[in-house]
Amino acid sequence: MAAYNKETKNRLEQIVEIARSLSEIQDIDILLERILTETRHIVNADAGSIYVVEGNNLKIKYGQNDTQLKLLEPGEKLPYTYFSFPIDETSISGYVAKTQRPLNIEDAYNIPEDTPYQFNKESDITTDYHTSSIYTFPLKIKGGALLGVIQIINAMDDEGNIVPFSKEAELLISHFASSAVQALQRAYVTSSMVKRMLKMAEFRDPKETYPHVERVSSFSLEIYDRYAFNHGIPYDEQEKYRDLLKIGAKFHDVGKVGISDVILKKAFPRFTEEERNIMKGHTCIGAQLFDPSESDLDIICRDIALHHHDRWDGGESGYPGKIDLCSFSIKDGRLPEGEVLKGNDIPLAARIVAVADVFDALSHKRCYKESWSIEESFNEIYNSAGSHFDPEVVDAFSQIKDRICSILNAIPDTE
Ligand SMILES: [Fe+2]
Ligand SMILES: [Fe+2]
Repeated sequence: MAAYNKETKNRLEQIVEIARSLSEIQDIDILLERILTETRHIVNADAGSIYVVEGNNLKIKYGQNDTQLKLLEPGEKLPYTYFSFPIDETSISGYVAKTQRPLNIEDAYNIPEDTPYQFNKESDITTDYHTSSIYTFPLKIKGGALLGVIQIINAMDDEGNIVPFSKEAELLISHFASSAVQALQRAYVTSSMVKRMLKMAEFRDPKETYPHVERVSSFSLEIYDRYAFNHGIPYDEQEKYRDLLKIGAKFHDVGKVGISDVILKKAFPRFTEEERNIMKGHTCIGAQLFDPSESDLDIICRDIALHHHDRWDGGESGYPGKIDLCSFSIKDGRLPEGEVLKGNDIPLAARIVAVADVFDALSHKRCYKESWSIEESFNEIYNSAGSHFDPEVVDAFSQIKDRICSILNAIPDTE
């Protein structure tokens, strides 16, 4: 670092610190979002997007825009975006993905005509924004494979004027990107382990499909973000919790791997009393897959798996309640009698996932029922506030209706 001036050296040291904090993030999506946020902060960029490679396309994961965010009410978020486009010259990000080389554009509206790529004004027009400087760079792992592309827009100087991305900015980003890629590689390993576990559950229970699990996880994160805003939960606590919740929510019904096929795949007539009781055991089986002494992730996974069917008011249809997991064995499969668990004694993560899971089940077709309309599904959740569900969680859910609908559209059932 000796050849750098003092300010650059300080910033490089800050980057090392930020990169270290990235390594604690386990969920791949949360990590991608954070990498985009930090990249923008490091070089003071007003906006940006992060894309991941999916086959021959780039798919947007997150878009951020401080200017547009300031126009919203506190706690609100920009619309949830989902689109993909080919890895080719028809877009700047596609071109960068194809060449796998960074590209620094001083002014999007003055790109020489003989360049192989052109700026697409469409998004500026629809969002009433003016893009000037753009820096786009690939995220590549060590062996050279491309993970995705980050594009940051409108570098700002200390007075808030839009300026081109400087040589120093390029240097800082390239340092940060190499650490970010290491964190990403680790998170990809975790993510494929999670996917494998979920795939096993899906083989057993045709209702627990990949899209259902992804939607429940995304709904849960959105509900938590709003809940955390409503309750003034400190930023650091939020960041840690949302990372664990995003993964934990996916495992809510993983315990169904331990339920017999005869029961799981039964479509009609519905369960006998005995079968229903065995089915309820999926909460305890799921919980037994996680050891709370191992990690915070295990704690949240266990809480969610065990308590996502407990009711806020402690009503009879909730289960399993307070339970000693040692008194449950997979062999006999019956749920032991548990003392009622209600209200805030039910872990927050389980109260959130309960809303997300029921809403998703209502709004989609299942082997035993047709899908309800979106309006009917929302109303059912609203009407169950204070009885089945935590009213404050439902409150948060009702405040993010648009984002919930966008997730429904972004992650459809595959049939
Ligand atoms: Fe369940
Ligand atoms: Fe589910």
